[in-house]
Amino acid sequence: MELTPYEQREPDEDEMIVAMIAAMKRQQESDYPPGATGRAAHAKHTALLEMSFAVHEDIPAHLRVGVFAEPRVYQGYLRFSNGNGAPQPDGIKDLRGAALKLHGVDGEHIPESDELDTQDFILLNTPAIPLGTVRLFTDVITLSQAKFAARTAVSHPHVLAGLAKAVITPSSPADIPYWSNVAALLGPDQVVKYSIVPTSEYTSPAREKHDDNFLGDHLEQHLAQGPVTFDFKIQLRTDPQSMPVEDIAVEWSETASVPVTVATVIVQPQPFRTAARNSLAEELAFSPAHALVEHRPIGAVARARIAIYAQMVSWRHDRDGRTGTA
Ligand code: HEM
Repeated sequence: MELTPYEQREPDEDEMIVAMIAAMKRQQESDYPPGATGRAAHAKHTALLEMSFAVHEDIPAHLRVGVFAEPRVYQGYLRFSNGNGAPQPDGIKDLRGAALKLHGVDGEHIPESDELDTQDFILLNTPAIPLGTVRLFTDVITLSQAKFAARTAVSHPHVLAGLAKAVITPSSPADIPYWSNVAALLGPDQVVKYSIVPTSEYTSPAREKHDDNFLGDHLEQHLAQGPVTFDFKIQLRTDPQSMPVEDIAVEWSETASVPVTVATVIVQPQPFRTAARNSLAEELAFSPAHALVEHRPIGAVARARIAIYAQMVSWRHDRDGRTGTA
């Protein structure tokens, strides 16, 4: 993979990618029987929802690039997930994911993409994940918990406390903001991150006790009241020193560069707890590789993910005798 001028190679990147893939496959083989292989990360979807993505008219000229070039409405999917590698009760603190897939996206896709008409945006409930490098991701994925904790306590003392803060139990996946963490190009000479911020009129009540699937229950109750909406925002990198590409543990200050709303995510009321929707959730693949050339995700973690997701998706689909689909 050729590097953009904004990127640098991390030592042993390729070897670490191979090691992570091997460790995740081993874990999946022990977690899932063939025929029912969940994702190696973000295994449990709290909902897969049909979504519209409405690009606004009044976008500043420099942000009118790629899917944001013209005001139009894309149809697609929004998958809310819990971060853990195996499904677990929603009440357990966890990273929470929101993955958006836009369909009908014309234009040149990055060569690594195996989908030719989509643009994915993959987001987490934290603006900056303490595992800032491929090295740290490799350690957390390949080492035992005890070894990782011991090694990190010495080499990166803030990581464990940072991870403990990043895991949350929200009242609903629809009520919290999400960020891309990794940077992406916006055309040839701009670097950005993305976020979505909830704007629904309805918000779910906080509860003391949590049923195992309460996040889906709360979404269902929300959609019975009205749509789920988010503002989709672009944050421009305005200072390369304080807004690095290669260390995603560093949060880009939203005061120094205020995120600009460029689109609205709209989820209309719909039944989503159906066998067909659950099966589609396993079939769909969200990946940083599903990107227009103008939106290429950049940085070592993005490069690793582009390589890893493709292999992990085809492996889980093959293991389950699925062909895979966009
Ligand atoms: C090198 C670091 C990382 C590795 C190895 C990794 C690995 C994975 C894998 C294997 C999957 C499942 C793919 C599939 O089978 O469909 C996944 C899903 C996901 N990852 Fe990562 N990941 C990494 C970093 C990140 C980062 C930085 C984010 C921040 C946005 C992130 C957010 C997500 C989300 C939200 C999903 C669920 C996507 C969906 O709904 O299908 N990951 N990750």
